[in-house]
Order: sequence, then structure tokens, then C-alpha cells
Amino acid sequence: MASLVGCELRDGIAIVTIDAPPVNALGQGVRAELLARVREIDGNPDIRAAVLCCAGRTFVAGADINELGKPPLSPVLPEVLDAIEGARIPWVAAVHGTALGGGLELALACTARIADGKAKFGLPEVTLGMIPGAGGTVRLPRLIPMCDAVDMVTGGKPVTASTALAIGLVDRLSETDLLSAAISYAELAGQPKPASLLDRPCRDAAEMDWQGKAKAIQAKARGAEAPMEALDALKDSAQLPAREALKQERQRFLRLAASDQAAALRYAFFSERNAGRSLTSIDSAPADLQRIGVVGGGTMGAGIATALLLSGSEVRLLERDTSAAETARARVDDMLGASVARGAISREDADQAIDRFTASPDETALASCGLVIEAVFEDMDVKRDVFSRLDAIMPAEAVLATNTSYLDVNRLAETTVDPARVLGLHFFAPAHLMKLLEIVRGRDTGRRALSTGAALAKRLKKTAVVSGVCHGFIGNRIMAAYRRDCEFMLLEGASPAQIDAAMRNFGFAMGIFEVQDMSGLDIAWAQRKNTESTRDPSEPYCRIADKLCEIGRLGRKTKRGWYDYSDGGQKIDPQVIRVIEEERTKAGVTAHSFSDEQIMKRILGVMQREGQALLSEGVAESASDIDVVMLTGYGFPRHRGGPMYLFGQQIECAFL
Ligand code: NAI
Repeated sequence: MASLVGCELRDGIAIVTIDAPPVNALGQGVRAELLARVREIDGNPDIRAAVLCCAGRTFVAGADINELGKPPLSPVLPEVLDAIEGARIPWVAAVHGTALGGGLELALACTARIADGKAKFGLPEVTLGMIPGAGGTVRLPRLIPMCDAVDMVTGGKPVTASTALAIGLVDRLSETDLLSAAISYAELAGQPKPASLLDRPCRDAAEMDWQGKAKAIQAKARGAEAPMEALDALKDSAQLPAREALKQERQRFLRLAASDQAAALRYAFFSERNAGRSLTSIDSAPADLQRIGVVGGGTMGAGIATALLLSGSEVRLLERDTSAAETARARVDDMLGASVARGAISREDADQAIDRFTASPDETALASCGLVIEAVFEDMDVKRDVFSRLDAIMPAEAVLATNTSYLDVNRLAETTVDPARVLGLHFFAPAHLMKLLEIVRGRDTGRRALSTGAALAKRLKKTAVVSGVCHGFIGNRIMAAYRRDCEFMLLEGASPAQIDAAMRNFGFAMGIFEVQDMSGLDIAWAQRKNTESTRDPSEPYCRIADKLCEIGRLGRKTKRGWYDYSDGGQKIDPQVIRVIEEERTKAGVTAHSFSDEQIMKRILGVMQREGQALLSEGVAESASDIDVVMLTGYGFPRHRGGPMYLFGQQIECAFL
């Protein structure tokens, strides 16, 4: 078997290379070989220093995911790191790509760190419900200021090489030959070998506002335990002798790794990796995605165009007239500007992106696009007209997609000569930021159209889930069902504020009524009016939302919806309570009180029933796909795993 950790001697310097594709994860084999190399090298008096680097595209990108959640295998990482830190000679880590989790802890155990200018460093354990388990909370704050360590460990977000240099996480950046730079540095580093990080106190710990930070973390975590545990571990690190803090950290890590939240977060991680798996086996070349057309430049069209531009494509947007085209261009410009302001892209990137963009009412401009995505009004007649016109002007090999939220993709495809080239690409608002893409497979959708959807998702770095055709596909169908049930709960005695609070306490960022106020009540109202003629009269129907729309309460945009926003805040409105009471009296329902737990039990029950219907109808390909949709598109708290996960675990309501 090929060696996972190689060693080469150059003039008294050992160059140790981890070569475990694809990401040099620290699996048991790597740990064992690395430990053996450290011991061999330490026993060789001719060696003055060692450089630790990685083959392939990255430094160690973390633990081996196949070992996650299982009992630790020997040698454990702390043992390997102790050996490196306690070695006779200095070790210099040469980092390219990403040093994440155990990878960064490995670099921290070395005497010094040199990095490529594009390298990234992070401790993302909290995103998997854990904290670092091999010295991350002990060595990091002894190397960089405590406030930076707190941000890195409790937030889980990686930092760039330049930030790493600025805060002292790396000693030097190398823009040219990383290995040579590391070798020269190793020559200097060890004369004499500097003291271990463990012999230093934490940096600037006295300046930390622990209480303020704890408050901020708790508010953001919405019930996820790991970020607060990470903060507590760092506090221990500041107060305890380093070696004692290491022991405490390891215990905390092992306890959290075995927790329900970590299990749910691991499930979410693997579910996301497996999402859209059926798309990978399609053996058909996708359409060319260099130039993509978008029809309609409203909220969604402009967002989709922005996402496409950011991925490097040229975008041609079609609007109804010149003035609408100009408005669409301004929207795209604003979204790119906001991305610059957020620091997500540079001004040059934004300028180059807008140079690849044109908007006009001239439909012939679309004819050279490989893919066209329609995002016009949610109206079957308007969309059918757009599809038949596109069919006439687009060459036979071009793929046609709709971003419809609810409408029947098969009825749109019917308007084309070759319905195999039609599919749904359901983006979420804001389309350039939200990670989810529902790829809707119509009755006749062909392999080329599907492989184009898959290639687009990859290009846009989105998580794709395949859905069959039904009213609202996977996500909107589940949301419509539980929203309806929440309205029935209003009739039965709960208030909008109480339902929203129960959802927030469960971990949602917002409750269902707050969400409706934010996105506007009119879209769903129009939808209900559209389907009124086909509604089963024997099905119970709650009229509260219709009543609010009829009196002009359309949400935040009219300053009144389920709540009153007229003075800038969010207030319970007596008018809404009156409407609810009137409808309750008409329906002849006697009000009773609800606990948070009863509310969440009802909501989860509806989500789970609808999810099972989606599976039995063959709309969703797997229960985990449904969870991915709810986690990435609808704010379901990730540390709960998802409604189908809770169902599988026989956890009806996680308040229990
Ligand atoms: P919008 O009303 O903001 O924008 C629609 C745009 O289409 C307008 O700018 C209009 O001028 C243009 N348009 C209408 N007919 C046209 C035609 N024949 N040719 C060219 N342009 C035309 O609507 P929004 O919110 O962007 O929604 C668009 C589609 O995306 C709808 O199908 C909607 O259901 C769907 N969607 C909306 C989401 C949202 O959060 N707003 C989320 C996901 C999907």
C-alpha cells in the first residue's frame, strides 16, 4: 500500500508530506504514519528541522468524515500533536489550500507556520455540533488575540491568509515557492527551538467581554449548543494551566461528539452531500452555460442574473420594455454593489460582472444562449406565452427552464415542440445568496435538460434537490400545508405572536407569520384565488389571511400585515385579533390554550405527513432530500436535523 506520509531528507531538513487524496483528511492511517515519522525523525541526530506539507490541492482539510461520530481510533490526534510539539527539533507547517479543524490544530502544534497567499484557516467544528478536540481552544488563543480566537472557534468561519498574517496565526506568507520558503524558515526557526505555545498565557484574555460575547452568541445560536460550549472552552483556556485546559477541552469534545445535536448536524452534512445524487448518473452533456438568458428582471430574475454573473457567465435579460429593462439592470447593479459592500467580491469583480450583462426587450438577443431561465409573473397564461415564444426563437439544443413557485411545469412544457428540453429551476430569494435549488423534473424532461440543471447548480455552488411536479414542489408544498395548519390553530385559540414565538424557541429565525409579513401576503392570496375554482368545498378553509389582504394588510410593505409595523417596530395589532375572533365565531370553534410544545408538535406533524405524501407520490427522491430543502430553503434549525430526521428518530417534538 502506498505510504500516506512520505519523508525526504534535504541537507538535514526533513520534508514530511501527507499524501491522502482528496483532502488529506486526518484518518487513522495518516495519524499512525505521521506519528511514526515524527518519532523516526526525532531519533535521527542528523536532522535539524522538519517541514510539514501536503500533496495535492490542499493542506489537511479536517478530520476523516467516515470517523465522525464513532469511537476514537488510536493514535488519537492529541497524541500526534504532543509528539510534534514536544519534538527535539522545530517543525514548520507549510500551508496551501485550507487548514481546517484538525488540520489547523496540526499546524498550531508546529513551531511556525508559513502559508500560500490563497490559503484559508478555520475551526468549523461548531457547524457539526462540536468544539475542536485537539488543542484548538488552547493553542489558538495563545498564538492570536483571544477576541479573534473567540470569533474563529465560536463562529466556525475560516479566515484568509492575509487575516491570518495580521492576527499572528501565520508567521509569513509566501507568494512564490511555498516549500522553499518553509525550508529556509525551518533553518532559522530552530536555533534554539522556541518555547511551546503551551508555556505562554492566552493573549489579551483580560480584554475579553465574556458576558457580552455570550449574549451575542446565544442570540445567534438559536438553541444550538456548540457555540456556547466553544466559548466556555476558551474561557477555561484563559483561566486554567494550558495542559489542564487541554484535558478539559478533550472531555468537552468527546461529550459533544456524542450529543443529539452533533448527530443531527452530521446527518444534515451527509444529507447535503447526498442531495441530488440521481443527477450524477445522467450521461448526457449539459448545454453550454457560458451565455445564459433570463426572462423577467423582477426580484427573482435580477437575483438569478446576479448569481449567474457571479459564476462568470454572460447574461442576456429580456424584459417587457426598455424602461423595465433599465429597472432590471439597476436591480442587478444594486445587488452586485451590495456584494461589494459586504466584502463578498471586489469592485473589479462587480465591474467585470456588469460588463457581461445586457437587458433589453429584444427577444432575438436570447437566441445564442445555451439555457434560458424564465422568471416572469406567476401566471400560467403569461408563462405559457413566454414558453411558446422561446420555443420559436431558441435553437433545438437550448434548454428552457421556469422558476415558477407553484405552477405545473408539464403545462408549460406542452407549449413547446420538444418538451424534453423543459425543466423547472426553482431558486430561492435572494437567488444569488440562497444555497438551495429545486430542480423540477417534468413528465417529459429529458436527460440533457437535467444534466444542464445539475451543471448549473455546480457552477453556482448551490445544493440541488430533485423534485417531481406537484403544486409547490417539495418546499412550498410543505410550507403551504403547515401555514394552513397554523391558521387553523389561530381559529382554535393560538395567536400569531404565540405561534411565531414557539417556532423561534424551536430554532427558526422567524415564525411563519413574520415570514409572511416579510415576503408579502399578496402572493399566496393570488395563488389561493387562482385555485379557488378547483378547491374541494368539503375541505376546511380558513379565511383569516384573505380577510387581512382584503383590508389592505399585505405585510411589511404596507406597514401592516399579521403585525403592525407603523412605528418601525413589530407590534401585535388588535385589528388582527378582532378578525381572528370574528372568523372563529363564524366557524363555531371554541378557543383553547396552546403550549409551545403543542404548537410545534402540530407543525412538525404536518411537515412529516406532507413529507411522507411527497415520498409516496414519488415527488421527492428521499426523506433526506426533504430535510435538505427545509434546512437550506426554509430556515428549519439545522441542529434539529430536519422534520423527516426527527420523524425517523421518533422525536415528535424536540421540546420533549
Ligand atoms: P416580480 O413581479 O418581481 O417580477 C416579474 C418580472 O417579470 C417583472 O419585472 C415583469 O416586468 C417581468 N415580465 C412579466 N411578463 C414578462 C414578459 N412577458 N416578458 C418579459 N418580462 C416579463 O416577480 P418575482 O417575485 O421576481 O417572481 C418571478 C417568478 O419567480 C414567479 O414565477 C414567482 O412565483 C417565482 N418565485 C418567486 C420567489 C420570490 O420570493 N419572489 C421565490 C421563488 C420563485
